[in-house]
Amino acid sequence: MALTPGLQERFEERFGATPRIFRAPGRVNLIGEHTDYNDGFVMPVAIQFSCWVAASARPDRKLVIHSENLNETATVNLADARPSRNWSDYVAGAAAIPDRSGYRLQGANLLIHSEVPMGAGLSSSAAIEVSVALAMLSTSGYEVDRTQLARWCQQAEHEFPGMMCGIMDQFISCRAEAGRGLKLDCRTLAYEYVLLPQDVEIVICNTMVKHKLASGEYNTRRQQCETGVRVLAEVIPGLKALRDVSPAQLRENRKLLDPKVYRRCLHVVTENERVQRGAEMLNRNDVAGFGKLMDESHESLRRDFEVSCAELDKMIEIARDQKGVLGARMTGGGFGGCTVNLVGSECAHEFEDNVRENYRQAMGVVPEIYVCRASQGAEEVKLESAIEAGSRFR
Ligand code: GLA
Repeated sequence: MALTPGLQERFEERFGATPRIFRAPGRVNLIGEHTDYNDGFVMPVAIQFSCWVAASARPDRKLVIHSENLNETATVNLADARPSRNWSDYVAGAAAIPDRSGYRLQGANLLIHSEVPMGAGLSSSAAIEVSVALAMLSTSGYEVDRTQLARWCQQAEHEFPGMMCGIMDQFISCRAEAGRGLKLDCRTLAYEYVLLPQDVEIVICNTMVKHKLASGEYNTRRQQCETGVRVLAEVIPGLKALRDVSPAQLRENRKLLDPKVYRRCLHVVTENERVQRGAEMLNRNDVAGFGKLMDESHESLRRDFEVSCAELDKMIEIARDQKGVLGARMTGGGFGGCTVNLVGSECAHEFEDNVRENYRQAMGVVPEIYVCRASQGAEEVKLESAIEAGSRFR
């Protein structure tokens, strides 16, 4: 993991200037998967892994970006930034979109170090986008609303890497509060913080399968949902998104839909209900009830939305055999990446050991397991707190 305290020194050595330091976290989603781009509901938590950016303004309009993860440097000209199908797209987009939206930016030297596992469904992309956009805007003298920041970063992901994501990942990275989850209405962007269950750990298990091919499948799922909306809008007045459809309405109109499109829609409309019920359950501290909803969510994603894979299903099967497990589901876009599990605190260690060993035996790969510490959203980090934060990762 990162040794963030060295970031300033490494920046000074590379660029000969004193940087300001920013960070933005990745996330794990407790429930509400593939609902955000259907105007629905989600319930993410920011995790303790962040993307860190050291930045100083330049007199010109260039971005000189060094990625410590890749040990590569790229240069982007803000005046004509366009997608290049390169890792630097995440950075270029996060700067170019606010710049084009009337927030003219100065060039910058950027040193980037991300602790968020890449391609693991923990929003490493949003963490880069948000930390870079915050760094660029701040070093150019702007202070912007966090919701605006999230929207720009989402747009950057659409226009640069070309992934037609919803708003969840960027929003939680911008607005998370330490120790809490967040329930977001992705239509109105109204949000509330939710209490996380007591005496329970949120345990994230990484299958170590990278979801590389996922963005094509992701965009296809999105189109299938849009097809469903077009068909249903002919019979349901005022319908704008799957958010407006109840499971009963969907079942009534089943015959109108292609069977695959029907199953995609069924996942989304039932998942929206699960998020609503789940938030109520957490408010009453009904953790067992919430866990059941997580199990149902996984089933729906596997069977109807078809975004799980053998490794995720195996990880879930192993998790469900363990003592103290209240719920287990895949999290994020799918096709690899991580599962999220609710585990009674007193059983968490045993859970980790058993899952690691059983998954290794079954799949021949040692999974990474992280106990989630719900963290604060994006911020500028003063050196002293960077040292404190960095020491937590050693
Ligand atoms: C990815 C996207 C999000 C969301 C999830 C699935 O993480 O970036 O917007 O759609 O997949 O819930």
